[in-house]
Amino acid sequence: MIIQFCGLSGAGKTTLATRVKTILNEQNIPVEIIDGDEYRKILCADLGFTKEDRNTNIRRLAFVAAKLSSYNIVSIICAINPYEEIRKEIGLQYPNVKTVHINCSIDELLNRDTKGLYKKAMLPDTHPDKIHNLTGINDPFEAPQKPDLTVNSHLETIERSAGKLAQFILQNYKSA
Ligand code: ADX
Repeated sequence: MIIQFCGLSGAGKTTLATRVKTILNEQNIPVEIIDGDEYRKILCADLGFTKEDRNTNIRRLAFVAAKLSSYNIVSIICAINPYEEIRKEIGLQYPNVKTVHINCSIDELLNRDTKGLYKKAMLPDTHPDKIHNLTGINDPFEAPQKPDLTVNSHLETIERSAGKLAQFILQNYKSA
């Protein structure tokens, strides 16, 4: 099965995927995390952050996910994945795709700012370090209309979120 995450930078996508991988591996279920940050260094190094490039990025990650998923590896696409249109496309193109929204309040993201990106997006327009297209601040994030699961990372512990997601995957993996 393919789990396509969507959620803002810093919402906890990678942390959650890593925790869920450990939980499922303990039950002998193979999991691969297909992480946007990692793939953008290699397979997607030619892509930027326009809508077109972000959608191409997701298409490539989904292609890899589908290959692995065909060998019964739970494949988690761990990327911001901000557009509804591409999420729907992936859901129609490949079997057993589930969309999971990793939701987090903007206040909490600004507070965490693990990569310092939000600080840079908030700089004055004329500042040389200003980021002009950070998802959720000055670039769109379309919340999914019908996610299969929503995790609220600002409201619950990582253990609780990971438990919920692992249970959800187990239910759907068996019936796959
Ligand atoms: S996606 O929009 O195409 O799905 P992806 O998850 O691969 O994005 O990459 C997002 C990562 O790129 C962020 O976690 C962050 O580290 C980095 N990044 C750099 N610039 C931006 C930006 N303008 N918007 C979002 N993420 C950015």
